[in-house]
Amino acid sequence: MKTIFSGIQPTGSVTLGNYIGAMKQFVDLQHDYNCYFCIVDQHAITVPQDRLELRKNIKSLAALYLAIGIDPEKATIFIQSEVPAHAQAGWMMQCVSYIGELERMTQFKDKSAGREAVSSGLLTYPPLMAADILLYKTDLVPVGEDQKQHIELTRDLAERFNKKYNDIFTIPEIRTPEIGARIMSLQEPTKKMSKSDSNKKSFITLLDDPKQIEKKIKSAVTDSEGIVKYDKENKPGISNLLSIYSIFTGKSIEELEKQYEGKGYGEFKSDLAEVVINEIVPIQEKYYQLIDSPELDEILDRGAEKANREANKMLKKMMNAMGLGRKK
Ligand code: TYM
Repeated sequence: MKTIFSGIQPTGSVTLGNYIGAMKQFVDLQHDYNCYFCIVDQHAITVPQDRLELRKNIKSLAALYLAIGIDPEKATIFIQSEVPAHAQAGWMMQCVSYIGELERMTQFKDKSAGREAVSSGLLTYPPLMAADILLYKTDLVPVGEDQKQHIELTRDLAERFNKKYNDIFTIPEIRTPEIGARIMSLQEPTKKMSKSDSNKKSFITLLDDPKQIEKKIKSAVTDSEGIVKYDKENKPGISNLLSIYSIFTGKSIEELEKQYEGKGYGEFKSDLAEVVINEIVPIQEKYYQLIDSPELDEILDRGAEKANREANKMLKKMMNAMGLGRKK
C-alpha cells in the first residue's frame, strides 16, 4: 500500500478552503492508502500564538479530522510535537536547504511582509514540512494549491539529500483536487480564502453556525451582471461559489449553469447556503460529541505511538547517512 502524509495547522478554526482543498481528499483517500494526518502545531508557532488557544485548537482539529469521516482504524492521526523525530529531522533538512531558496517561498514573503520581527522559524518552515513528509516514505501529499511550492521544495531537498548522503528518501508526488484546490475569499474573490483574514466575512469555518453561514454566503461579493456563469477571470466571485456548490452536490459546473439560467444571484446564493449548511451540520454534530470524549485522547495517543515508531526508523537512517551520533 502506498503512503499518504498531510498536515493542517491548528490555528483558528478550519475553513471551507482547508476542508475542500485538503480534508475532503483525506476522507476519500484513506481507503486505498496508508495515511498519516498530522496536526502541525510546530508549524503554528512560526507566528505568535496564545498558548491556551493553541492547545484548544489542537484538540479541536483532532475532533474535526474524525468528525469529517477519517477513520482512526484506517488512518493515523497525531500531533507533530508528540513525535520528536519531526523536529530532529527538520533540523537536518534545514542544513540541506539554502537560505536563498527559502526566501523565495511565496508563503514566507506573504507572511513576513510588513512584520517588524520575523521569526527564523517562519523562514525554516519548509524544511520542517519536508521532514514531516519524508519521515514516512510518503508517496503522495494531498494539499491545496497554495502548498505546491513547498512540496516542490520537499522534492528538491529529498533529491539533494539522496545524492549527497545516501539514497534513502522516497520522492513524494503532490495531489490537488480538480475543483477547489484554491477556494477564494468571499469578500475579495481574487484572494485565497484564509482563516487569518481580518475580515471574518471572507471565510466560512466548519464550526460557524448555520445563520452565520447563510449571512456570509448572502453577502459574498459577486458582480453586477446577474448571470450564473463560470468565468474565473471576469467573474471570480460567482466562479468561486459555483466551485463550492459543485463540490458539495457532485453536480458539474455546466449542470449548475443550466439550473440557474435566467435566475438571479439571490436564489443561487440561497440554495448554496442550504447546500453548505447540509454538508457542515452533520460534521458539527459529530464534532460536539467528540470534543470532550476520552476517545479523542486515546486516538491521539495511539497515533503518536505509531508515528513515533515509523518516524524513528527513518530518523535513524538519516543520522547514519549524515554521520550523526554513533553507529547503532
Ligand atoms: P494550512 O494549515 O495553511 O492549510 C491546510 C490545508 O488546507 C489547504 N488550504 C486550501 N485549499 C484550498 N483553498 C484554500 N483557500 C485553502 N487554504 C488552505 C492547504 O493547501 C493545506 O493543504 N504547510 C501546511 C501544513 C503542513 C503540511 C505538512 C501539509 C505542514 N507539514 C506536510 C502537507 C504535508 C499549511 O500551512 O497548511
